[in-house]
Amino acid sequence: MKVTFYGIGYVGLVQATVLADAGHDVCCVDINETRIANLKKGIIPIYEPGLTPLVEKNFAEGRLTFTTDAEFGVNFGDLQFIAVGTPPDEDGSADLQYVLKVAETIATHMTSPKVIIDKSTVPVGTADKVRAKAQQVLDSRGSDLTFAVVSNPEFLKEGAAVNDCKRPDRIVIGTDSADAEELMRELYAPFNRNHEKIIVMDIKSAELTKYAANCMLATKISFMNEMANIAERVGADIEHVRQGIGSDSRIGFQFIYPGCGYGGSCFPKDVQALVRTADGIGYESQILKAVEAVNYAQKNKLFEYITKHFGKDLSGKTFALWGLSFKPNTDDMREAPSRVLMEQLWAAGAKVQAYDPEAMEETQRIYGSRPDLSLMGTKESALNGADALIICTEWQNFRAPDFDLIKSQLNEAVVFDGRNLFEPTRMTKKAIKYYSIGRGLSVTGE
Ligand code: UDX
Repeated sequence: MKVTFYGIGYVGLVQATVLADAGHDVCCVDINETRIANLKKGIIPIYEPGLTPLVEKNFAEGRLTFTTDAEFGVNFGDLQFIAVGTPPDEDGSADLQYVLKVAETIATHMTSPKVIIDKSTVPVGTADKVRAKAQQVLDSRGSDLTFAVVSNPEFLKEGAAVNDCKRPDRIVIGTDSADAEELMRELYAPFNRNHEKIIVMDIKSAELTKYAANCMLATKISFMNEMANIAERVGADIEHVRQGIGSDSRIGFQFIYPGCGYGGSCFPKDVQALVRTADGIGYESQILKAVEAVNYAQKNKLFEYITKHFGKDLSGKTFALWGLSFKPNTDDMREAPSRVLMEQLWAAGAKVQAYDPEAMEETQRIYGSRPDLSLMGTKESALNGADALIICTEWQNFRAPDFDLIKSQLNEAVVFDGRNLFEPTRMTKKAIKYYSIGRGLSVTGE
């Protein structure tokens, strides 16, 4: 089938590439000329395991094309995917200007019937706005061409995006058009094997499904972080509690890891946007507001431990920081807990020696060169002469460090771990003071 994607960011690029790899002809349109020129040369704008070879292969074999020419894109695909960004407005609601601009572009140039598909995470009611915008443009052209609007939210996780797209748990299709449904079923047929994964519903339910999924997951995390805070104060160990509740299949083990707060491009933005949507219709979402508040507080947690240990004035102190990205296997720093922490450390006069396997360039881009930030080549060199080690991201190669080296390199044997990577009893045996999340014994040092 012939497909066009507008917006070659995370979601657009991965989904377009995976569809091309399944045999469809996919045209990728983006207004960013550098991005498109780079993609043609095989330079991928994001770090995502497995993506680069897949882009190169499908580009070389001619199923994946890249252009800034929107008119070409409109005439290319029968299916037109909108995958542009929906950044938060000043008040936290999703900004739809880019989505509506694409709808306008499609309606301006189309010369045959189209299916317009919302792939971006957009508030309930966006499909109606896309439809109205496209219809308005067609009317002004005096055209009686027809189109359908479909909501087809994306559920991929960064770091596992290719696999998530190739083997989706479910494919949600929100539509009021039988013809569009048939085309969407044909498009996703290669991914709908083994058992039925396609769930067809009305458009508004599909739009809400995406928000409900992310908000549910964010709720699980904030809930666990709250339990961790309680555990800490009553002298319980949240890691035991996690295993104790996760083994209940109704609860499950996923997304109940306490930590220094959730980040990324989706959870913070989507929770906020649904709160705003609810507010806008006169309904106060008490749960989601609490989810947000708990997460905000959780991102301060490591700094609280640090000032508890070292006092409020951190001038003259240097901290080794392992992990900058908001989670492992990505270079994405959006809403990363490491950012909140670094900014607090700097404000208190401290210096940071940071290491991350992928996100150093991104950190450099965000913060530029500053005297209180050194980006180090290895996790070991980050320790050199630092007063303590802080861990913000659970990269695999942080899990079994050389503790003797940590002790010998640090001025004081103290570790602040925002991801609970180590056993407190083991750290005590090694005479390392260990602060972690919700493990009462370690926090009180008893
Ligand atoms: C998320 C959703 O998982 C995905 O389905 C949706 O399409 C986009 O948003 P992503 O943002 O890539 O994906 O990251 P995810 O793996 O969900 O992690 C989000 C944040 O939650 C990270 O900061 C992570 O560290 C944190 N997290 C996750 C926890 O603190 N504890 C957990 O148990 C799980």
